[in-house]
Amino acid sequence: MHIGHIDGQTQLVGIMGYPVAHSLSPEMHNAAFAELGMNWRYVPLLVPPERLAEALRGVLALGFRGVNVTVPHKVTCIPHLDSVTEAVTIAGAVNTIRIDASKGRLEGLNTDMSGFLTDLAVNHVSVNEESRVVILGAGGAARSIGAGLARSGAHITFVNRTVERGVQIADFLRSSWEGCKVEAVGLEQLAEVSHDATLIINATSVGMFPYIDASPWRDDVPFPKDAVLYDTIYRPLQTKLMRDAERSGLRVIGGLGMLIYQGAAAFELWTGKKPPIELMRQVCLRRLSES
Ligand SMILES: NC(=O)c1ccc[n+]([C@@H]2O[C@H](COP(=O)([O-])OP(=O)(O)OC[C@H]3O[C@@H](n4cnc5c(N)ncnc54)[C@H](OP(=O)(O)O)[C@@H]3O)[C@@H](O)[C@H]2O)c1
Repeated sequence: MHIGHIDGQTQLVGIMGYPVAHSLSPEMHNAAFAELGMNWRYVPLLVPPERLAEALRGVLALGFRGVNVTVPHKVTCIPHLDSVTEAVTIAGAVNTIRIDASKGRLEGLNTDMSGFLTDLAVNHVSVNEESRVVILGAGGAARSIGAGLARSGAHITFVNRTVERGVQIADFLRSSWEGCKVEAVGLEQLAEVSHDATLIINATSVGMFPYIDASPWRDDVPFPKDAVLYDTIYRPLQTKLMRDAERSGLRVIGGLGMLIYQGAAAFELWTGKKPPIELMRQVCLRRLSES
C-alpha cells in the first residue's frame, strides 16, 4: 500500500482494539484523507485490556487527534475519559474518542448509534409510534440501537439468549424516557413477539465470519410479512439471516452502511470535514469481497 508523504505536520488518529488487524477502518479513513488531500493518517493500535489506561494516556501524550475504540474496550474505556456525551451515557458505550491535546482532555462519543440511524434514514426506513421493532441481541450494539430508536415512540422488544441482559437494557431505557415502550424476552418467545414486527434488527454476532452458516432466527418461526430486516453484520456482506429473510419476501439491509456512517461521523468530529462516503463504501466493499 502506498503511504504517501509523512512529515512533522502529519496528524494521527487510529483504532484501539484487541484484536484489531481485521478492522476496515484504517483503509476507509486513509482513503478519505488521501482523497481530500489531508495530511492525516489512521493507524491500527493493538491494545490488550490491561494496557488500555496506559494506551489512552499514550495517545494523548503523542498528540493524536482522536481514536476509535472497538471490542473489548467500548465500555471499559469510559472511566478513563474526561467527559462523555449524552449518547454515551444512554448507550453505555464509546466507540469514538476526541482528543483535545491543548487541554489534555479525552472526550468519549458514540457514533455507532448515529451511524445506524443515518443508515436507516438513507435507506428510507422510518420508525415511528406505529412501528414494532424486534432487536435480536442485548450486547453493546443492541443497546446503542435500542437507545437510538427509543425516542421514536416505536414499540421495541429485545430478544436475547440471555434474557436478563435484555431486561437490564429495557429497564434502563424505560427509566430514561417516560412512556418508552420497550420490553425484553428470551428466544423461546420469538414467534409471539415477532409476528407483527415491522423492523427486525440482528444485533447479535450470530452469522458473522467465520460462522457464516449460522443464523440467530429460529427455524420454526416464520418471518413477519412486509417487515424490513436489518443485519448489523457486514462480514459477510450477505448473511444467512439476510438470505432466508429475503427468500420470505422481506426487504433486507446489511450492516456496511452502519459501519461507514459511524466512521464518517468520527471523521467529521475529528477533522471538521465531510468525508467522501462513496469512496469509503467502495474501499470497504473491495476489502470485504477479497476476504
Ligand atoms: N455495522 C456496524 O458498524 C457494527 C457496529 C457495532 C457492532 N456491529 C455488530 O453487532 C454485533 C454485536 O456486537 P456487540 O458489540 O453488541 O457484541 P456483544 O456485546 O458481544 O453482544 C453479542 C450478542 O450476541 C449474542 N450471541 C452471541 N453468540 C450467540 C449465540 N450463539 N446464540 C445466540 N445469541 C448469541 C449475545 O447473547 P448473550 O447476551 O446471550 O451472550 C449478545 O446479545 C456483531 O455482529 C457486530 O459485528 C456492527
